[in-house]
Amino acid sequence: MKIFHLSAECYPIAKIGGLADVVGALPKYQNEVGEASAVIMPFYNNEFTKNHEFETIFNSELYLGNAVYPYRVLKALDSNLDFEVFFIDVEELLYKTYVYSNDDIDRFLAFQIAALDWILTLEHQPDILHCHDHHTGLIPFMTQESYKYESLNKIPVITTIHNAQYQGWMSYKHLYKIPQFSMENIGLLDWDKMINPLAAAIKCAWRVTTVSPSYMEELKHNANGLEHLLAHESAKTEGILNGIDTDVWNPETDDFIIKNYSKTSVKSGKKENKKWLCKTFNLDENKPLIAFIGRLVGEKGAELLPEVFHNIMQNKEANILLLGSGLKETEAQLSHLKTLHHENYNVFIGYDEKLSHIIYAGADFLLMPSRVEPCGLNQMYCLRYGTVPVVRSIGGLKDTVVDIDNHGFGICHNEVAVHDIVFAINRALEFYKDQTKFNANRKHIMSIDHSWKASANAYINLYNSIN
Ligand code: ADP
Ligand code: GLC
Repeated sequence: MKIFHLSAECYPIAKIGGLADVVGALPKYQNEVGEASAVIMPFYNNEFTKNHEFETIFNSELYLGNAVYPYRVLKALDSNLDFEVFFIDVEELLYKTYVYSNDDIDRFLAFQIAALDWILTLEHQPDILHCHDHHTGLIPFMTQESYKYESLNKIPVITTIHNAQYQGWMSYKHLYKIPQFSMENIGLLDWDKMINPLAAAIKCAWRVTTVSPSYMEELKHNANGLEHLLAHESAKTEGILNGIDTDVWNPETDDFIIKNYSKTSVKSGKKENKKWLCKTFNLDENKPLIAFIGRLVGEKGAELLPEVFHNIMQNKEANILLLGSGLKETEAQLSHLKTLHHENYNVFIGYDEKLSHIIYAGADFLLMPSRVEPCGLNQMYCLRYGTVPVVRSIGGLKDTVVDIDNHGFGICHNEVAVHDIVFAINRALEFYKDQTKFNANRKHIMSIDHSWKASANAYINLYNSIN
């Protein structure tokens, strides 16, 4: 089967969050089981594109209404990736140092139109178009409705929702930019008097998946306005849990971390990584280390963290280290806490891939008090590195973390409230005190299999069911 994934992000080319990790791994595992899976993504002005050589395989121009933009399709000559990537280079719109900003409407419309215009010209058409999130949400509509893409309307289109909070809303003043279709069907684009690309994808895609079974259920009651639509379309929906790339995320071979380790050497291996973190961030290596890695936004419960941390720091039993960026006010509050608790607390405001790996390796606990968590990859990464997750039971976190009091291996809580998060952290610190049990648990969690094998097959079965 020839599969094209269409996405705004793909690791290691352009990463903002977990979407990149998924699109950077799923095609590789699909290729391993004999399919021909490739990625189509924008050509950004970033480290990856600056440091690789590209060849142009197609040259044309696209229309956004009456505006004409020249574009190219590029392939990397030396990428060393385990799957093919086709880059859509619309220089004027997409070749930016950022992935997302406030000019996304024209940028991602152009991306989708250019990608489909190019696919129209291919001698060997794909068997599946697999679209990710709202940035590619108009593709299922356009292949079904736009006259120009009529010859593509037999190709099954899947949409995967990684996050339904963001839907790509645009006003009707942009309508003329969408390649012509019968106005009788304009309702397919609409949700609440706006053009809503995610809603259009849910209506028009042949199948709609999301990244964990629990999130699929939750969406029927909490989907930022799309609850009824998802409930109505439930016959074509499915929750497929993400996997992790076990080659990239492997404590035995990870080049980013300070000392590699396996299950048998987990205790000493983690100790070396923790030592480095404590030295670098002025923490006390003799105390348990609780970490947070992620976007500092409401979905992640981030605005509660300053109060949670201040509370935990009172009895000086633990270290806290945070890596993240997002809401400016939360960033400022988290940084300010350093002045109060400098000996056991530190934050790195920003994005740092290498540091994130060292934290997964060196921390004792990873905190995820998410309000919404469609899947969450951090908890699966930390398990693989023998770090105990402390999570709110929601979405993918509910599907992957079982509480120690329920014959499990992590710490779970139910509410996104300071007292509940603090209570969970205190349970974690109690658990840490029994080092024999704690070390046995580390070995156990490192053996949990969250590789892509099962999920890559689940997607293939889904494709087969509609092909
Ligand atoms: P989301 O996509 O909602 O942000 P996920 O848990 O699916 O959440 O994925 C987050 C990914 O981004 C993980 O690979 C995590 O390690 C990474 N990440 C998040 N914030 C940072 C950061 N500040 N520095 C480095 N990596 C980060
Ligand atoms: C989104 C979700 C996250 C998920 C990721 C990959 O960013 O917020 O929970 O893990 O996509 O599917």
